[in-house]
Amino acid sequence: MGQFKWIVLLILFETFLVQAKKYRSFNENESPTSSASNDHRLLVDVDIYNRPYTLPYVYGQLERFKCSSSQCYLDLRLYRVFNTTVEAETFRLTREWVEAMKKSSNNPFKEITIIEWSSKHSEDRADRSRYVMKRCLELSVDYLAMLDSMLILVEPETILSTLMSKDKPLMAPLLRSTKSLYTSTFYLNEQNENMYVIYQQIYDRTKLGCFLINGGIKDFYFVNFQYPSVREIFLKDFVSDENRPISTIDIIARQHSIPMYVCNRENFGYIPAQYVDDSYDEDLIREYYIHMIIEHQLNGPKQNYLPPIGRSSLIEFPSSEKTKFGFDEIYVVNLERRQDRRQRLAETFETLNMKVRFFEAVDGKYTINQSYLEKHKVRLMPNYEDPYNLRPMNYGELGCFFSHYFIWQDIVKNNYVNGAIILEDDVRFDVYFRHRLEKVFANKSFEWDLVYLGRKIMRQNEEDYDNRTETYLIEPSYSHWTVGYVLSLRAAKILVEENPIEKILPVDEYLPIMFDHHPNKTWKKFFNNRILKAFAFHPSILTPSHYFGEPNYISDTENTTVLEKGTEFTPNTISLDVTETKTVDEDNSAAKDEL
Ligand SMILES: *[C@@H]1O[C@H](CO)[C@@H](O)[C@H](O)[C@H]1NC(C)=O
Ligand SMILES: *[C@@H]1O[C@H](CO)[C@@H](O)[C@H](O)[C@H]1NC(C)=O
Ligand SMILES: *[C@@H]1O[C@H](CO)[C@@H](O)[C@H](O)[C@H]1NC(C)=O
Ligand SMILES: *[C@@H]1O[C@H](CO)[C@@H](O)[C@H](O)[C@H]1NC(C)=O
Ligand SMILES: *[C@@H]1O[C@H](CO)[C@@H](O)[C@H](O)[C@H]1NC(C)=O
Ligand SMILES: *[C@@H]1O[C@H](CO)[C@@H](O)[C@H](O)[C@H]1NC(C)=O
Repeated sequence: MGQFKWIVLLILFETFLVQAKKYRSFNENESPTSSASNDHRLLVDVDIYNRPYTLPYVYGQLERFKCSSSQCYLDLRLYRVFNTTVEAETFRLTREWVEAMKKSSNNPFKEITIIEWSSKHSEDRADRSRYVMKRCLELSVDYLAMLDSMLILVEPETILSTLMSKDKPLMAPLLRSTKSLYTSTFYLNEQNENMYVIYQQIYDRTKLGCFLINGGIKDFYFVNFQYPSVREIFLKDFVSDENRPISTIDIIARQHSIPMYVCNRENFGYIPAQYVDDSYDEDLIREYYIHMIIEHQLNGPKQNYLPPIGRSSLIEFPSSEKTKFGFDEIYVVNLERRQDRRQRLAETFETLNMKVRFFEAVDGKYTINQSYLEKHKVRLMPNYEDPYNLRPMNYGELGCFFSHYFIWQDIVKNNYVNGAIILEDDVRFDVYFRHRLEKVFANKSFEWDLVYLGRKIMRQNEEDYDNRTETYLIEPSYSHWTVGYVLSLRAAKILVEENPIEKILPVDEYLPIMFDHHPNKTWKKFFNNRILKAFAFHPSILTPSHYFGEPNYISDTENTTVLEKGTEFTPNTISLDVTETKTVDEDNSAAKDEL
């Protein structure tokens, strides 16, 4: 559902209602009736979707809610309409969790109620707001938190007390989508440019506070019944008048001029991205959800990763078999001293349900020294110079080359006929990663050697973005980075057989040479079999987590000692004519020692 459709629908709806009957309005000068004690009653109402993959996170968050000096009730609304297996699974897990919560000493809720909706009373089901308000009346609560189960709250421990402290008649915490599609918990009835600017400032959190919204809030309503007219409007009028048309809380609020706020001072969490087109695809809804979870860890203020979004610890959730997407291996290059990256990725792969192999990287900083170079008979590409920094290759780049090279050898050794994915440990997955990868490689007659999952485009003018293969791929020209690519067995063999160690240059220069799209003809001449069939996802389906020059950028290659030509290396014997190059036997046994 696009934002604009929402707005149009709302305006039509409202016009109809306002003409139908005139209702009471919110009094601007009103203040909440503050009760003497701090002992408030609060209802948390959660709409549970029939998507069992969300439940470990939904219940993980609810477990961590805190309800200090209040009485809290939890209503879980479940839908049994089509009697499908996912419905049955959602009910089963929910009942199990509620039982476990009742026994848990950390249960903050006085009562947990499962509300079952079935097709028998479909009208009631549509009229969720009226039902919830009836419950509020029954339980005589002071506050209502009514939320959608697709949301991710990063600090569930404090959310209720924070929202209570804002003291607004009706508000939503700002929750944002991780993909920059500007999905959030508020919308504007914007007719002008200025409102867009304000929306953006609130969304980007360049302005902090609670903002009165010319539009409304959605997906998370926090209602304060201590305001007399809020109580009157929602609990009396709305509940008692059975003939009132079915409506949502934000529409009712606007009819009665109840001010709606969105608050963004705290970083509350996430909401899944919404569709911009008309296609409804459960697969993509899942990808958007998963993306919120994996992206969260990269949102830390420093280069430190944030702890993962917690899963429920009370019950076991069934897991399906982990995937390699039909490849024989998924390698993840990781330096032993970067355990932080490894832990972040282990969580990410768990969430993406991927089976990977962490492959210990060769540490340019500590492992590579003079005797290592001699043992592997390393020779430098003559006159190699980094085109940007105008410096020779450094130890970090050497370590990186060896890490990839040993993986290619491993692919050959294991005869991985289905190829492999190779990832570096600073990888950041795009929201469409799994979806597009699966779509492309589902075609078994599509032939490829090397497919960049992410890359830096170096020659934009040489690429034809309209000539697509398998919908998402183009033919790349000169490209940098090796943050993520797919390699065939044939390609791994070719890359190893060219003996790149004896004319070494950075690995992201070597790959474009081997699909014959490197601008430096001098370097190209050192390699013969430059026949790789290369493709690239365009746009990329993964990127590095931080780019060079960004505040959080820490490189494992840039910060290492530069190789001194002639001094660090054994004498360079490669001449420009490849045929004169002395061939050196690969010392494979020694190479494997380094793994
Ligand atoms: C739901 O489906 C199951 C089998 O698929 C069936 O046994 C059961 O009676 C159905 N329940 C309802 C309420 O229709
Ligand atoms: C090179 O490193 C290896 C292993 O880290 C070490 O055993 C060796 O002494 C080092 N050699 C030199 C010349 O520093
Ligand atoms: C290719 O690399 C060599 C050696 O670094 C350099 O001298 C030459 O200018 C480069 N050629 C091009 C076209 O960049
Ligand atoms: C699969 O790949 C082959 C070869 O590249 C191509 O001709 C065909 O159109 C592709 N099929 C689909 C469904 O994309
Ligand atoms: C489009 O790409 C294919 C290979 O994917 C290539 O064979 C063909 O020549 C390209 N067509 C044009 C018009 O560039
Ligand atoms: C290099 O290392 C220093 C300190 O060890 C660090 O402050 C700096 O950010 C690093 N630079 C890069 C590009 O990683």
